[in-house]
Amino acid sequence: MKEQILPAEGKLGILMPGLGAVATTFIAGVEAVKKDLAQPIGSLTQMGSIRLGKRTENRYPKVKDFVPLAHLNDVVFGGWDVYEDNVYKAAMHAKVLDKELLEAIKPELEAIKPMKAVFDKSYIQNLDGTNVKTAATKYELALQVMEDIRKFQEENNCSRLVMVWCGSTEKYIEETAVHSTIESFEEGLKNNNTLIAPSMIYAYAAIKSGVPFANGAPNLTCDIPALIELAKETETPIGGKDFKTGQTLMKTILAPGLQARSLGVRGWFSTNILGNRDGYVLDHPDNFRTKEVSKLGVLEDILQPDINPELYGDLYHKIRINYYPPHGDNKESWDNIDIFGWLGYSMQIKINFLCKDSILAAPIVLDLALFLDLAKRAGMIGIQEWLSFYFKSPQHAPELRAEHDIFKQLMKLQNTLRHIMGEDLITHLGLDYYQELVDTL
Ligand SMILES: NC(=O)c1ccc[n+]([C@@H]2O[C@H](COP(=O)([O-])OP(=O)(O)OC[C@H]3O[C@@H](n4cnc5c(N)ncnc54)[C@H](O)[C@@H]3O)[C@@H](O)[C@H]2O)c1
Repeated sequence: MKEQILPAEGKLGILMPGLGAVATTFIAGVEAVKKDLAQPIGSLTQMGSIRLGKRTENRYPKVKDFVPLAHLNDVVFGGWDVYEDNVYKAAMHAKVLDKELLEAIKPELEAIKPMKAVFDKSYIQNLDGTNVKTAATKYELALQVMEDIRKFQEENNCSRLVMVWCGSTEKYIEETAVHSTIESFEEGLKNNNTLIAPSMIYAYAAIKSGVPFANGAPNLTCDIPALIELAKETETPIGGKDFKTGQTLMKTILAPGLQARSLGVRGWFSTNILGNRDGYVLDHPDNFRTKEVSKLGVLEDILQPDINPELYGDLYHKIRINYYPPHGDNKESWDNIDIFGWLGYSMQIKINFLCKDSILAAPIVLDLALFLDLAKRAGMIGIQEWLSFYFKSPQHAPELRAEHDIFKQLMKLQNTLRHIMGEDLITHLGLDYYQELVDTL
């Protein structure tokens, strides 16, 4: 497979609908790293290493030295937002990064101005912005986004593009007939079907243009049969949903450990306070519902109460998100976990995670962009399940159950990289080391 991967030549354009806290922290971070002002901590592609071959071989290259990824110096950024603020202003508004750091990269950030957004207030009631496209139909809006994509590529002299949705969480909708085929979806675009969300219009425009697409929010977006089919037709990699950060990251680290030791879980209560714009949008019940559904599936899929009813059959799982402006982007989460062990004896675990939401999300945007670009060059099309590692609610084939366990997700990701580079997969069996020892005795 290695020889079939096209090289990462020329510039890679990373396009983001939504230039808010996550996107600006990501862009500013990459610009700071390019100037050697900071390190890309939390990014597996930049900081992580991967074991190759047998343990006796001692081969642990950095991921970026193992697979042919775009170099950070070859990356350029663009995006859309309902607000007109350039990335410098938006980053100042988000208050995630220090003013001094932002000053050091001000010209680069000021140069990135949002294109006019595809926006529909009925999907996000708590936002008001004027930097918005107008057209008679949703189909025409999609054509305008495709034109934006084409122009961006030409003006920035990019050889390749990827798109990552970093926009706000849209209201909860379920898949219906309009989402079922490419034809019904295109018909819906032309008829202004109300069940086609703005994020779907961006996703359609990207996939139709052959631009890989990832969804960082819990909206349905590209997780509908019509766009999965379109991705296959245009040979485009796609993935989603909802960046795995904060509380859910902790859940998918801890729950596999409890399950591995056959410890029971009776209840898991999770609450959060956050005060950024994301928190404000999620303060509306319709938007919170989208997030709640995305967060709820995690435990059920890891603990599998249907397979282990004695341990997890009565699990009560509750999630709350509260908008609390004084905390800004510094989200604070609490988890109370009621577990039981030997002979059913009860125990409790308490977690209080004082995290910085966008600091955890920014490296995910980078890794997703670089890996989606790699996938495209490697001829991998449709849903990229090996990128589940980065998502709260991983998109997967309908006949499969989602894999939420972060350790299994990592193994899948690493084995995918080994596979495309023609290296042996690693099963962690390890008996051969001892077998050889016995044979030589
Ligand atoms: N920060 C995290 O850790 C994290 C984790 C998982 C998921 N997410 C999701 O990522 C998304 C971004 O988070 P954030 O903290 O940057 O939020 P944010 O509110 O700071 O930024 C979102 C931006 O999207 C813009 N927007 C909304 N609808 C748009 C549209 N149709 N077209 C273009 N722009 C649009 C908003 O104006 C805003 O500037 C949210 O959906 C959030 O739920 C964030």
